[in-house]
Amino acid sequence: MLVVKTIREVREIVKQWRKEDLSVGFVPTMGYLHEGHQSLIRAAGENDRVVVSIFVNPMQFGPKEDLATYPRDLEHDKEKCIEAGADLIFAPDVSEMYEDNFQAFVDMNLLTQELCGLTRPCHFRGVCTVVTKLFNIVKPDRAYFGKKDAQQLAIIKRMVADLNMDIEIIGCPIIREADGLARSSRNVYLDTQERKAALVLSKAVNKASELINSGERNSETIVSAMTQIISAEPLAKIDYVKVVSLDTMQQISEINNSALIALAVYIGKTRLIDNFFYEGE
Ligand code: PAF
Repeated sequence: MLVVKTIREVREIVKQWRKEDLSVGFVPTMGYLHEGHQSLIRAAGENDRVVVSIFVNPMQFGPKEDLATYPRDLEHDKEKCIEAGADLIFAPDVSEMYEDNFQAFVDMNLLTQELCGLTRPCHFRGVCTVVTKLFNIVKPDRAYFGKKDAQQLAIIKRMVADLNMDIEIIGCPIIREADGLARSSRNVYLDTQERKAALVLSKAVNKASELINSGERNSETIVSAMTQIISAEPLAKIDYVKVVSLDTMQQISEINNSALIALAVYIGKTRLIDNFFYEGE
């Protein structure tokens, strides 16, 4: 497996693969890879070659967010990529991705205005811009994103359709710890007590899934049952618990065919997200 830091090198390698008529799968990440990322890399193994990018993208962090402390460990990431079968890591420096007079942004409307977009106003503009740049650099056939970041996945799918990018976007299932906590690079911030408290997220998700599977369709009833579980945990503070449309990310009062039940909760200072896709019967 190769590790490169420049756009020029990625382009040369991918160009060579293209000459050999090989298909390319791409997994964009911010590093500190865990089993969740590895499941994406393994899914991308359906292509002839797999590229993983590792780049903590400053543009998607707000001024008071955790850019400086976001965990970074390239050696650890290399091991995880080798284990999962990646062929190439692209790990650029910030200056390689953003020249001093960088001025182009990719912005999306409606889809970015709910859920995480409310608490993190510039986040999705940063995500869409960097993902567009990475797509232009790697030029993959398929790109793989986790369903844990459900809103991100919906936004990327819309962006690719709206801007006619010739890339297939594939959403992969949430990977959880044995006790239910969704895998996240931010889980390392949790101390022992917080780690236990963080289980309220998956408990709330399970409650939603139980209610929906037993026929409940009223969003308020679902949200209030989830809120009750989370509020019982003193270390947890709700950012949002919402039932939204899968297409628009706007709140819905009744579930008809499909819905996304999404939540963001602070456990101490760490903001965690989780969700449940209901895709109809
Ligand atoms: O999901 C992430 O880790 C990031 O938002 C992404 C897609 C790699 C863009 O920086």
